[in-house]
Amino acid sequence: MNKQQIIVVSSLENDLRNAIEAVPHDKLFVLTDNTTLNLCWPILSSYPFMENATLITIGSSDANKTLESLAHVWQELSSKGGSRKSLLLNLGGGMVTDLGGFAASTFKRGISYINIPTTLLSMVDAAVGGKTGINFNGLKNEIGVFNPSSSVLLCTQFLRTLDQANNCSGYAEMLKHGLISDTKHWAELIRFNLADIDYIKLQELVAHSVGIKEKIVSLDPYEQGIRKALNLGHTVGHALESLALSTGKPVLHGYAVAWGCICELYLSVQKAGFPSDKMHQTVQFIKDNYGKMQINCKQYDTLYEFMTHDKKNSSGIINFTLLGEIGDIRINQTATQKEIFEMLDFFREC
Ligand code: GLY
Repeated sequence: MNKQQIIVVSSLENDLRNAIEAVPHDKLFVLTDNTTLNLCWPILSSYPFMENATLITIGSSDANKTLESLAHVWQELSSKGGSRKSLLLNLGGGMVTDLGGFAASTFKRGISYINIPTTLLSMVDAAVGGKTGINFNGLKNEIGVFNPSSSVLLCTQFLRTLDQANNCSGYAEMLKHGLISDTKHWAELIRFNLADIDYIKLQELVAHSVGIKEKIVSLDPYEQGIRKALNLGHTVGHALESLALSTGKPVLHGYAVAWGCICELYLSVQKAGFPSDKMHQTVQFIKDNYGKMQINCKQYDTLYEFMTHDKKNSSGIINFTLLGEIGDIRINQTATQKEIFEMLDFFREC
């Protein structure tokens, strides 16, 4: 897989101009959703080099990460003079960078694209690492390809327009990166004040966090092995997210991941010797910043069922990423139903 260039923005105008000039192209397209059209596109469209860019807009939110939106992007690229030498710039959260990345990867067998993630979640996760795709048949990211953007521009200026809950949601993936990397970074992350964000410090933490993901992706771009480390918190997190959705009380992805980390750290203590004091410190940080999702023991079977359907499993065996210590990653771990139910007891009571 080609390596993507990660640019921590100091001047969006200069850094973007350089990133665009680094990719020879005949025509520039920009993809936004309705939200970034209003909040972020006015900034970019004021730059002289964006004058001839052709704008394509799709609906906001995961509900629009569909074949219909994708067909709309293809249609616009095709009818407005797109060629194999065109360049697509994705301006938005994970939905826009995933769908735009997939549109670019498939239009005329693949054109270049650049990601400008505008949410914390997309900066530290979705826009980095080459996963692209759409939802299909009611399943998240069911159709897609691995194909990295030419570059990713990390501009934390956009985060100032984001609400607290969305910033917390993205921060959960950063916390996960801390847990799978080193104690110093993890300690720095759990000291950060999410209720009163220092954006200068956040930019530094984001750059560090993306570096962790980049390193793992470079070792295993197609998720055959160590990239599964990035799934810490996600086996239980996805199940909690699905449960919340099925009961009509959807939760933000990062909240479910944070709660999933509580569960999977508990399992790490039980099965891999993860230090209990570090689990308790992490749990406290999560409880303080994300609250708790209320579950009851009648929902354990449903949660277990959701876990068995996780697309990271093979042969129906639930696959966990656990830790023996901070940074001591144990992929492809399993647990019995009894152990999983005990883990849910811990989550419910902690
Ligand atoms: N979101 C996890 C990964 O990119 O592998």
